[in-house]
Amino acid sequence: MTFNLKQRYGQTAMVTGASSGIGKAFAQTLAAEGMNLVIVARREAALVELATELQEAHGVQVVCIPQDLTALDAADNLAAALTEQSIDVDLLINNAGVGTHGRFEELDLDREKAMIQLNCQLPVALAHKLIPGMKERGRGGIVMLASVAGQMPVPYMAAYSASKAFMRFFSESLWGELRGTGVDIVSISPGDTATEFRQTADLNNKFPIPPRTAQDVVNTSLKALGKKTSVVDGIMNKLTAWWASWAPRKLLILMNGKLWKV
Ligand SMILES: NC(=O)c1ccc[n+]([C@@H]2O[C@H](COP(=O)([O-])OP(=O)(O)OC[C@H]3O[C@@H](n4cnc5c(N)ncnc54)[C@H](OP(=O)(O)O)[C@@H]3O)[C@@H](O)[C@H]2O)c1
Repeated sequence: MTFNLKQRYGQTAMVTGASSGIGKAFAQTLAAEGMNLVIVARREAALVELATELQEAHGVQVVCIPQDLTALDAADNLAAALTEQSIDVDLLINNAGVGTHGRFEELDLDREKAMIQLNCQLPVALAHKLIPGMKERGRGGIVMLASVAGQMPVPYMAAYSASKAFMRFFSESLWGELRGTGVDIVSISPGDTATEFRQTADLNNKFPIPPRTAQDVVNTSLKALGKKTSVVDGIMNKLTAWWASWAPRKLLILMNGKLWKV
């Protein structure tokens, strides 16, 4: 599957959270499209290994930036690194994110705040820094990682669910502002996807829908970019999101509470 991203948006993409899962699949797909990459995450060894693989397979340039994206100055550091190396980001994949699972008041508050910093504040700051350049060049693309968990309230994942609802609304609102500028933006809502996410979020609950692959999520996102305001990955997840859009709120919350109970 090809998306003509280089022709549509330009030479360089930045992927946050590229060391595993969906971000890694984005990096592999964009490199296969011939785009140079800036890849960001904490695990430097995983980034360097991926960079070597992509450079050898596709002859693209890959810059690795090891960075803890929960740091308050993370977006400033990334912007400084881009300026220093004279890199214009034409396609931004705001992917890095984590979840937490548990009864809210029993979860570690610092971890909840760091999650909101990573899932919400960082994408806001990066979009704010990169949109002006994209508008000036008259083209650009942004993919924002939301979640099916952001389409409805999810007890025992309260702050995560809210952080992903934020991403969807933020992204769709920007879609309204960016219309006609040449800059495309889309929010993608994956459901359960086979990555390291469940492990880092301490999620062991059985989920009624079989997991999708990271590549499924990437394909759904890139197909929708430039066409839709937001998209849900996979038919079963689409059905779930559609049901959540009209289901009685209390029933929805009670059912989610049963599903995700600790
Ligand atoms: N998998 C799912 O079921 C699912 C469902 C809906 C939405 N999503 C969303 O999809 C996105 C990608 O998650 P995934 O499923 O691919 O999970 P994953 O395999 O755990 O990948 C998460 C990525 O984020 C990076 N990351 C985490 N904390 C970071 C930090 N403090 N600083 C920098 N990078 C950090 C990780 O890299 P390092 O550990 O190397 O830093 C990793 O590359 C997230 O936004 C998630 O909310 C996932």
